[in-house]
Amino acid sequence: MTSPAELCAFLTSTAVIMVCLCNAERLPPPTGLSYRWIDAFTVNVSWQEPRGLPAGDIRYEYSLEDPKSHVELTTLTHFSANLLTEETGSGSWTYLVWTVSKNGDNLEDSTKVPKTIETPKPRAQVEDIQCFVNLNNETKAKEMNCSWVPGNQALYLSFRICGHTHKTILGLKNCVWPYSNAMRKGCYLKADGVANNICMLLESEAGQSTFKLLPMIDPPELSIGEEGDNLKLSWTLPPILKDHPWIFMVCSRKCSHAEVCQNYTTKGEPWFMPYDKSCRYELRSRVRTGPSVPPIFSQFGQVVFYGNNLPADKTLTVVAVVLPIILSVCIFLSCYCFRRHSSILCPVIPDPSAIFKEMMMDGNKDLKSTMGSLYTPVPEPVESCKVDTVTDSIVVPLNS
Ligand SMILES: *[C@@H]1O[C@H](CO)[C@@H](O)[C@H](O)[C@H]1NC(C)=O
Ligand SMILES: *[C@@H]1O[C@H](CO)[C@@H](O)[C@H](O)[C@H]1NC(C)=O
Ligand SMILES: *[C@@H]1O[C@H](CO)[C@@H](O)[C@H](O)[C@H]1NC(C)=O
Ligand SMILES: *[C@@H]1O[C@H](CO)[C@@H](O)[C@H](O)[C@H]1NC(C)=O
Repeated sequence: MTSPAELCAFLTSTAVIMVCLCNAERLPPPTGLSYRWIDAFTVNVSWQEPRGLPAGDIRYEYSLEDPKSHVELTTLTHFSANLLTEETGSGSWTYLVWTVSKNGDNLEDSTKVPKTIETPKPRAQVEDIQCFVNLNNETKAKEMNCSWVPGNQALYLSFRICGHTHKTILGLKNCVWPYSNAMRKGCYLKADGVANNICMLLESEAGQSTFKLLPMIDPPELSIGEEGDNLKLSWTLPPILKDHPWIFMVCSRKCSHAEVCQNYTTKGEPWFMPYDKSCRYELRSRVRTGPSVPPIFSQFGQVVFYGNNLPADKTLTVVAVVLPIILSVCIFLSCYCFRRHSSILCPVIPDPSAIFKEMMMDGNKDLKSTMGSLYTPVPEPVESCKVDTVTDSIVVPLNS
């Protein structure tokens, strides 16, 4: 048998365990967060291990404050990441770092500690960055033609493969073939922007701008033909990446309707779209690579015209010009006929109230005189249409 003291001890320990299970202990958060830029693209965020952590594995999670960003896990007290100004459109980012428990530890994650990171220099003024690659030739596909519209300061370009390992950080190269024209400044660079992620830096004395190179190609030429009741659209795909799917966005306007855009994935097969032969078509297209291929895209190419909407115009002319003429002739003729024969079509009708009045006032008078007095107010319209002999022959004897 258990003594009351033993029972009491047992109950107390059970209660302690229960409390522990229900109110999971919260882990302490990391402290002393700081950051350091390793190069223009790479930041190193570090912190101190919090005091009073249980022994064993200590792990942290971190992510950008943006809820869409990935949560990363680390067992170290620092991490490195590439942060590019043109991807956020700003020169500042906020990271959240917190301590997490191991599975089965039954310890609640710590609160999230924010750390705001500013670029070493303010964001440089630059607009409309474009990097073209020529996919027609293996050699040329490893060369880029990058250009931009600068703000009020001269910008110098350097670039390297994105990443934050020691080797990539040391791989930074400067632009060696700069050029400029009226509107834009640019540089030809030897870099395989199709096979690699290339990080670019445009730097002036006062500012800097960082971005990932997005290779663009000249828009593939759109050719249009007719097959049956369809329009046949085809493009010549660049020889490199030829066998991969390309997504064409085709925007068409027929007659004077609004423009309609559709996406079409092809490995080179033509695309058919219903053709209304009474319409003139305006078509333009742009392309981008499909999934599982490095992202490459083009802007819209030249607008291509096909067909004619003249037949539709002729029908419209007939409707708009000839029909009203026919209609007005008809109306004129019917007016003329109506006027000629108005007394037949609308004979003069005696006024019933007048008849009634007459009857009430002179009940014993002759019907003939009543008829005569009834007709006296109405000769006016009859006079105006006096062409009719029938009217005369009826009215004249009655009035006499
Ligand atoms: C980042 O900072 C931590 C702490 O200062 C340091 O130990 C680590 O080596 C740094 N990482 C890089 C890639 O410089
Ligand atoms: C590709 O471009 C290089 C350099 O411009 C040139 O020497 C070579 O002949 C071209 N190859 C083809 C197949 O066009
Ligand atoms: C490089 O790009 C610029 C701007 O888009 C353009 O004017 C120039 O012709 C291109 N150079 C070559 C060699 O294609
Ligand atoms: C076509 O693709 C573009 C992305 O390139 C997308 O923005 C657009 O909504 C798509 N259009 C249609 C009709 O699916």
